[in-house]
This record gives sequence, C-alpha cells and structure tokens, in this order.
Amino acid sequence: MHTTIGIIGGSGIYDIDGLEGAEWVTVDTPWGAPSDAILTGTLDGVKMCFLPRHGRGHVHSPTTVPYRANIDALKRLGVTDVVAVSACGSFREHMAPGDFVIVDQFIDRTFAREKSFFGTGCVAHVSVAHPTCPRLSEACYTAAVDAGITVHKGGTYLAMEGPQFSTLAESKMYRESWHCDVIGMTNMPEAKLAREAELCYASVAMVTDYDSWHPDHGEVDIAQIIATLTGNADKGRNMVRRLPALLGAERAPCPHGCDRALDYAILTAPD
Ligand code: ADE
Repeated sequence: MHTTIGIIGGSGIYDIDGLEGAEWVTVDTPWGAPSDAILTGTLDGVKMCFLPRHGRGHVHSPTTVPYRANIDALKRLGVTDVVAVSACGSFREHMAPGDFVIVDQFIDRTFAREKSFFGTGCVAHVSVAHPTCPRLSEACYTAAVDAGITVHKGGTYLAMEGPQFSTLAESKMYRESWHCDVIGMTNMPEAKLAREAELCYASVAMVTDYDSWHPDHGEVDIAQIIATLTGNADKGRNMVRRLPALLGAERAPCPHGCDRALDYAILTAPD
C-alpha cells in the first residue's frame, strides 16, 4: 500500500513548500465542505495532502472548523497518515514557547462540535484509549529532532472549546490537578474522527505561550501567540519536509491497528 501523508496545518501555517506538481484541489464530502481546498503534490516520492485547518485567511474558529468534512476529505484523497500541527499553550516550565510536543493523550473538554461519523442508522464505538499512532508519532519526533527543534516526546493535551482562553483557576486546575502538559482548541474531535476513519494520527503541538498559570508571564493573548508562531513557522515546515523520507513510499499495515479500528467497533447489524 502507498503512503499518503496528510498534514493539517494550524494557526500560522497555511501552506507547505517544495511540493512537486503542487495543486489545490477541491473535495466535496457528505459532511459538507472542508475548511479549504487541499494542496496536493509529491515530496521525496511520497504523495502529500495539506489542509489549512482554519482555511486560508483564517476563516474558521476552533468551534466552526468542519472536522468531519476535513477528515473525510483527506480519506477520500487516499491519505493514510494524518499529522496535525497546531499551536498550544504550555503547563510545564520545560515545555517552553518555541518547543514542539508530540502529544500522546488528550482530555476532551470540547462540547459544541460534531464528534462522530456514526449515529442513527449505524452505531460504532471505536477505542481511543491510545488516541495517537505511536509509529507516526515516532516519525514526527525524529523529523523534529533532525530539524534541530527542541521537541518533547509524549504529553497530555487539554482540548478546550474556546474561543476564549482559560481562566486562571481553570489553567491551574488543568496543570496541577489534571496533570495536563499542553492546551489547545482543535485536536479534538480531530483525533477521534481520524480513528473512526481508520487513519493513523499524530499530533505535533507547537508551544506558543504558558497559558495563564505562570507567575512570571502575563496572561496569554493572540498577539503573543502569532509572534511566536511566525518565528517558528519555518520549524514546522522543516519538520514536515523530513517526514516522507522517514515514512517511505510503501506502507505495511499499521502495527498498532489504527487502519483496522472499525473491525470490531460496529454494533448495527448489516442489512
Ligand atoms: N493555542 C495556543 N495557546 C493556547 C492556549 N493558551 N489555550 C488554548 N489554545 C491555545
């Protein structure tokens, strides 16, 4: 089977460079239109599909991102591996602005989004005990190290609804009681939907701020996030550029079963 890498770019990342045969393609899905057209092309002999999560011009808020259409559109283009790149706040002193974190767990506190492809007519319950793919996450970690980025392997991501940032009390609770490492607004329900779509999913969270808990840093604001993101956009691109060589053009079944997640998950009897 051929590898096709899907990159979902977060705030500050609206395209990737160096693609051979680059073309923006429009994809329609039963879940509506994705956030934007998808930039397709080849890098080191591997097909790549890039989707700006918020759309070019940043038109979708974290709540209104069409998550189901995005994952479905990538699946329709033949994507096998989804790498989500997104901005996050940090709850850990050593996960500093500019660092990357390869997230491996989530606490989902979002509440105003469609979270499943299943429901009336076809009921399925997939496991998200391990919501990211260890094989793909390892490739992202290696790509980041090779690109000279300070990167942390593993971390728990608090997915909040937004669009407002957290209160000081929330920030302290997520950090001290819930033991979260980073916070963002977009990786859920993305990771859950990728699992339902039987896609490998890895989350590369780029730290932009210390949220509001840190006594030596002021409260977070968007100007600070954009300033850090702009300074680090090249880092994200450098990491992405190394992924095709690490993953290879041919792909064996996922050793962790991401591509078979529905095998024992569907409850509804076939007609
Ligand atoms: N994205 C970047 N920084 C964030 C923060 N502190 N909270 C939620 N989402 C973020």
